Amino acid sequence: MSGVIRSTGSCAALCAAALLAAGAPAAHAATAPAAASPALHTALGRLWLGAAWYPEQWPESRWPKDLALMQAAGINVVRVGEFAWSALEPHQGVYHFGWLERAIAEAARHHIHVVIGTPTDAPPAWLTSRYPQTLRIKADGQRAQHGNRRQFSYASALYRTFCRDIVTRLAERFGHNPDVIGWQIGNEYTDESYDARTRRQFQQWLKRRFGTLTALNRDWTTAYWSQTYTAWNQIPLNALPGNPGLMLAHREFVTATWLGFQRNQLQVLRAHIAPRQFVTTNIGGLGWSDNWDHYALTRPLDIASWDDYVGEGQLDFYRNGAMSDFVRGWKRQDYWVMEAQPGFVDWAPVNNSLVKGGVRAMTWESIGHGADAVLFWQWRSALGGQEQYHGTLVGPDGKPEPLYGEVQRIGREFKEASATVAGTEPHSQVALLVSYASRWAIDFQRQTRRYHQLSVLLDYYRPLENLTHAVDIVSAHAPLSRYKIVFAPSLNVISESLAQHLRRYVLGGGVLVLGPRSGMKDQYDRLNVERQPGPLVPLLGGRVQQYYALDAPVELDGIAGHGRGRIWAEALTPQSPGTRVLLRYGAGNAWLTGEPAAIEHRYGRGAIIYLGTILDAHLMHAFVERRLAAAGVHSPFGVLPAGVELMQRGGEGREVVILINHSSSVRTVRLPSSMHNVLRPGRTVRTLSLHSQGVAVLERADAQ
Ligand code: GAL
Repeated sequence: MSGVIRSTGSCAALCAAALLAAGAPAAHAATAPAAASPALHTALGRLWLGAAWYPEQWPESRWPKDLALMQAAGINVVRVGEFAWSALEPHQGVYHFGWLERAIAEAARHHIHVVIGTPTDAPPAWLTSRYPQTLRIKADGQRAQHGNRRQFSYASALYRTFCRDIVTRLAERFGHNPDVIGWQIGNEYTDESYDARTRRQFQQWLKRRFGTLTALNRDWTTAYWSQTYTAWNQIPLNALPGNPGLMLAHREFVTATWLGFQRNQLQVLRAHIAPRQFVTTNIGGLGWSDNWDHYALTRPLDIASWDDYVGEGQLDFYRNGAMSDFVRGWKRQDYWVMEAQPGFVDWAPVNNSLVKGGVRAMTWESIGHGADAVLFWQWRSALGGQEQYHGTLVGPDGKPEPLYGEVQRIGREFKEASATVAGTEPHSQVALLVSYASRWAIDFQRQTRRYHQLSVLLDYYRPLENLTHAVDIVSAHAPLSRYKIVFAPSLNVISESLAQHLRRYVLGGGVLVLGPRSGMKDQYDRLNVERQPGPLVPLLGGRVQQYYALDAPVELDGIAGHGRGRIWAEALTPQSPGTRVLLRYGAGNAWLTGEPAAIEHRYGRGAIIYLGTILDAHLMHAFVERRLAAAGVHSPFGVLPAGVELMQRGGEGREVVILINHSSSVRTVRLPSSMHNVLRPGRTVRTLSLHSQGVAVLERADAQ
C-alpha cells in the first residue's frame, strides 16, 4: 500500500488556477506520501549520482556519446527539461514531446534514470509577448522582460493556467514512463511580483488572516505615524522598509503565494503520475535564503532538494555541513542535492575552482549529512546562453574536462557504498532551532549591522559538531522530545503557542538553551510586554532587562567560564530564587558591568538557560561542552584532529561513519572500535590516515 493521499484532479484547470491564485486555503492541498511510500523508496532507496542535462541544446546524434560518457562516469540519473518550454511547446497549443521521449529512452539504454523539471521558470517568448500581464513587476515598478528567466508573476492566475496545461500534458505523457523516477516543480522559486493584481491578492489574504481592519490595525499598531487603514485596498504592497507587522505578513503572503504556485502543479502531478515517481523542487539561495518559508514549501513534497554551491573560495565544511543539516530538517528526512558545483561557478566575485579532490570531499560531505543524491550542474557547456563560463563535466567540444575523472571516482565509490549507505539517515541527540518569522523580524531591524544570524547559528554549530558529530537543525515548531538538549540562538518571535510547545519540552525533561534576542516579539512582530523571552519569562524565572548593540567586546566571568561577549549583549534579571547566574558581564561597558549575562532555571524535569550575548569561540566551546555533559550527550569518537569531519548515518541494522579530511595535511584518526572499510571491501580499520581531501566510508563491524 502506498499510503499516498491524492487529489482527485477533478477540478478543471482554469477553475483551480483561479482558486489558487485567489489564495484558496491549503485544506485541499495535495499531501506528501507517508514514510516509506513508493516515491520515497525511489528517491532514497539507493545512492544517485547525476547531472543536469539539456538534450534540447544538442543534435540528437550527439546524445548517445554524452550518455555513454555519463554511464562511464557512474552517472545513473539526469535532470532534464526545466528550462525547455520553448522546445516542448514552440507555439501556443503546439506540443513537441517526441524529442523528450527519445532522450529519456536513450538515457535508459545507458541505464540512466530521469527526473523531469517542469519548465515553468522560463516562459517562452510567444507566451510573454501575447500575454504581457503574466510578466512580473519588479520592486522598482518596472515590468520584467523576456530574455532571462524568472520573468513571470508567481501570483498570475493566467500564468498558472499555462503552467497547469503544460504540466498536465507532461504528466499524462511521462507520468508512467518506467525510466522517469521523479519530478522537479519549477526551478528555485525566487522573485515575487508587485503588480496591482498581486496587491489585491495580498489585501484579500490579509482580510482572511485578520478578519477585520480593527484587528489588523491593533496587531500592526497602525496608530503609529497615522498608518490606520479604513479600507483593505489602502494597504500597500512594496519592498520598502515599513511597518514590521506588515513586512512580516508580506513574507507570509509570499510563502502562501509560492505554495499556491506549487500546488497548482503538484495537484496535476499527483493526479497523473505513478506513486513511485517522487515530486520535489530544487531550493536555491545556498540553502539559507529566506524569501519564503522552506518548511512550508517542502511540506507537501515527497522530498526536499537543494542546490549546493560554494561560489568563491573553498568549502567551509562547517557552513556546508550546517546548511545540509538545515535542509535535512525541512522535512526531517534524507534529501537530494539537485545541483552541485562542478569545480567552479560563474556568478561569484571570483570564480575559482575547488581544490583537486574538493568536489569528491563535498559530495561525500553531503552524503554524510543525509543526501542520497548529488547531481552536478551542468553536464556540458552550452555553446551560447548566459552561463558559458560555468564549470561542467564535459566541455563545448564534448570531451571530458579535468574534473570528469574525479566524478568518475565518485561514481565507482557510490556503486560500492550504495547498498550500505542507502536506507540509513543521520541521527542526533541535539538540535538547533530556527524559525523564519524570527529571521525576518531580526533582519527587518538588525539594530547592529554586525548581527548576522547565520554566523550566530554557526557559532553554536561548530562546537556542537566538534563534540557530537551529529546535529539536527529543525524548526522551533518541530517535535523535540527525541533531543536531550536544544539550542535556539536567535528565536526572536515567540508566540504563545510556540511558548507552550517549548514549555512542554522542558517539562518533559528537555534542556532549552535560548540565545540572544529570544522572545522579544509576538507573531505580529509586536514587542512582547513581558519583555524577553516573552511568554517564557515565568519558565526562565527571569527576563532581559535591556539589550545593547556592542561597539566593543565585553568581559564575561562566572561558573560557566571566562571570556568575552561580542556584538550583542543583554543584561538579565533573575526573578525567582531558583534562578542561577552562570555568567556576569565584567569591564567593557558600564551599563553591563556586574549584570547577569547567562541564567539557568530548572523547570519540571528539565531546564531552561538564557544566554544573553555571543560568546567568543573558546568560551562557547566550554559552555557547549558543559551543557552537553550535563544533558548526558557523549560521542564515542571524542574530539577529532582539526579539519577532520565525522558524520554518522544509521538504520536498518547498519551504522555508517563517513570521515573526511578537509585540511591541507595528513590527519590520523583512531576509531573506538574496528570498522569495515566500505570503499576497500574486505578491509577493516582501527586507525586511519587520511590525506588532504581524503574520504573514508566505514561500517561498524558489529552492526551487521
Ligand atoms: C542555479 C540554477 C541553475 C544554474 C546554476 C548555476 O541557481 O538553478 O539553473 O543557473 O545556478 O550555478
